[in-house]
Amino acid sequence: MTPAQRASLRQSLRHTRRLLSARQQRDAAIALHHALAGQRFFRTAKRLAFYQAIDGEIDPSLLLAEALSRGQACFLPLLHPFRHGRLLFVRYRVGDPLQPNRWGIAQPRLLAHRLVSPRWLDVVLVPLVGFDADGNRLGMGKGFYDRTFSFRARSARRRPMLIGLAHECQRVDVLERQDWDVTMDGIVSDKRWYEWRA
Ligand SMILES: Nc1ncnc2c1ncn2[C@@H]1O[C@H](COP(=O)(O)OP(=O)(O)O)[C@@H](O)[C@H]1O
Ligand SMILES: [Mg+2]
Repeated sequence: MTPAQRASLRQSLRHTRRLLSARQQRDAAIALHHALAGQRFFRTAKRLAFYQAIDGEIDPSLLLAEALSRGQACFLPLLHPFRHGRLLFVRYRVGDPLQPNRWGIAQPRLLAHRLVSPRWLDVVLVPLVGFDADGNRLGMGKGFYDRTFSFRARSARRRPMLIGLAHECQRVDVLERQDWDVTMDGIVSDKRWYEWRA
């Protein structure tokens, strides 16, 4: 797949995703919550990373609310202020202010004492533009998750667990994995689970 083909696939998948109605989005968020909230790995994770849905992404905020109410440590991503193309993860607590970054994504304030090294996260819920049934992921095209979690390829621990979240309409038959792409351990859509390595 050429870079131009990847770009056009991104565009068409994002377009499809944005066409989902408010009702479809709400039903998908509820289905996602049902699929994940009771899972052992989710309930027992001490440190979980979420994201703020934009651009028609499936919304994990019901899961965030549940994890917060259970007392699990929850984190949200923040653009790294100087390491290009990387994310930081900041502990989030109910009522914390969020501010839009340069792409309009709400993110927490950078507070040094609230940072966690990405290595110490147990589970990371990862947004995506497209996926296939083998755990390959197409992102927005900036490589943020690929760079931030590239250490996983060099580590035997396979931690954190990376779980992609998607609407079923984001699935494609085959996505060519590129050298730098991080593979998901599992992908959950509003309809089903894919590629589960427990
Ligand atoms: N670990 C990495 N180190 C350096 N550059 C990277 C790394 N991961 C991704 N990139 C770069 O980021 C860019 C976007 O990556 P891509 O996988 O196309 O985006 P996305 O995963 O968001 O779909 C690519 O040009 C790629 O070379
Ligand atoms: Mg990638």
